[in-house]
Amino acid sequence: MPVLDIIARRKSIRHYQIGAEISDEQIHDLLEAAMLAPSACGMRPWEFIVTRSREKLDAIRSIHPHTRMLASASAAIIVVANFDIHNAISGDYIPQDCAAATENILLQAVAEGLGACWCGVYPKEDFVAELSRIFDIKGNRAPFNVIALGVPDEAEGARGFYEEEKASWE
Ligand SMILES: Cc1cc2nc3c(=O)[nH]c(=O)nc-3n(C[C@H](O)[C@H](O)[C@H](O)COP(=O)(O)O)c2cc1C
Repeated sequence: MPVLDIIARRKSIRHYQIGAEISDEQIHDLLEAAMLAPSACGMRPWEFIVTRSREKLDAIRSIHPHTRMLASASAAIIVVANFDIHNAISGDYIPQDCAAATENILLQAVAEGLGACWCGVYPKEDFVAELSRIFDIKGNRAPFNVIALGVPDEAEGARGFYEEEKASWE
């Protein structure tokens, strides 16, 4: 499928088929897509935690009010920013690096027929602290977001759209 078609089909999916399996191979593909993202100076300051634990998914829901979709999710990936991985130029760009990796996961999810939803964590201090506690994230690291994953149980269809007036051509 052309890349633009995959991009156009992506939307946040918040209802998933309960109990549907996501295979290790699918998760591996999502992680591979993430790690193929660009990063400032090629520093790759990201790490990824994969969880299928119902206990952990519910724990996230209990501390983050905008993650209700995890009730039906089969898994989640927590993108973790490692603030120790940088050079003299790249440090300020670490959130952007993690965002690029996140978008790659969302697009690969479309290609796999999976539904995904990006749930923001960093830089909200309370969410960062609680997520760090739940997943034992230590050192100069911070959970950047939670990506809910599952087999969609809602209609597909793009939500994004093109706006001519947002672009200026010189
Ligand atoms: C930085 C960021 C944080 C987000 N956090 C949440 C969230 O906590 N919960 C949620 O349901 N959606 C969250 N979203 C998804 C947005 O609500 C969604 O992308 C937006 O409404 C556009 O819809 P679409 O993704 O279907 O195109 C987040 C998206 C971004 C980029």
